[in-house]
Amino acid sequence: MRGALITIEGIDGAGKSTLAAGLVRAFRSLELLREPGGVELSERIRALVKDPALRVDPRAEALLYAAARAQLVAERVEPLLAAGRPVLLDRFVDSSLAYQGAGRALGVDAVRAVNAFATGGLVPDLTLLLALDPAQGRVRAAGRGEAPDRLEREADGFFARIGAAYAALAREEPGRWVVLDAAAPPDDVLAAARTAVDTALGGRA
Ligand code: TMP
Repeated sequence: MRGALITIEGIDGAGKSTLAAGLVRAFRSLELLREPGGVELSERIRALVKDPALRVDPRAEALLYAAARAQLVAERVEPLLAAGRPVLLDRFVDSSLAYQGAGRALGVDAVRAVNAFATGGLVPDLTLLLALDPAQGRVRAAGRGEAPDRLEREADGFFARIGAAYAALAREEPGRWVVLDAAAPPDDVLAAARTAVDTALGGRA
């Protein structure tokens, strides 16, 4: 049987990495990968898209994320799913729809088309949205003490558009998305996520 594909989405600072780590502890069979990254080519693209020293046109940005995704899907995600392994992805196509489609105003449909090509039409079985007020996300991301990357330097309006786009995507496909309150205590967020993942895995840990 094919493995399930589970994705985590949300604005920067929403707590995706913490949630991913908690889920991997709870479900040992999950293979955790991150985007952009996970394989050599995609990790190199990650360094490019995050570099504050580079000028990156929005269309080029969308294509770079899609290229990183295409390689990760071909090299790791599809073989794992085909072998029956469940995969947990820290960000996937919906990040591009929210960040490039809405944040960069390229249009969600245009970015969706590019990504359908990149992934061969791969759609997650479950998407966990860590919903957080964008202003709060900025405070949390700044609190990490790391220098902001190229995207984290964007103005507040960019993150407001992304937050609204995520909410709209979740409303459009309620059967795939589970919305979690990222402002709740981390243990509560993890407990709610575990219930959803357990269902997606059909009770198989
Ligand atoms: P992160 O892995 O630390 O969340 O960094 C990834 C950054 O790239 C984050 O700011 C979100 C952004 N991003 C996009 O803009 N589009 C995408 O498709 C993906 C996967 C990430």
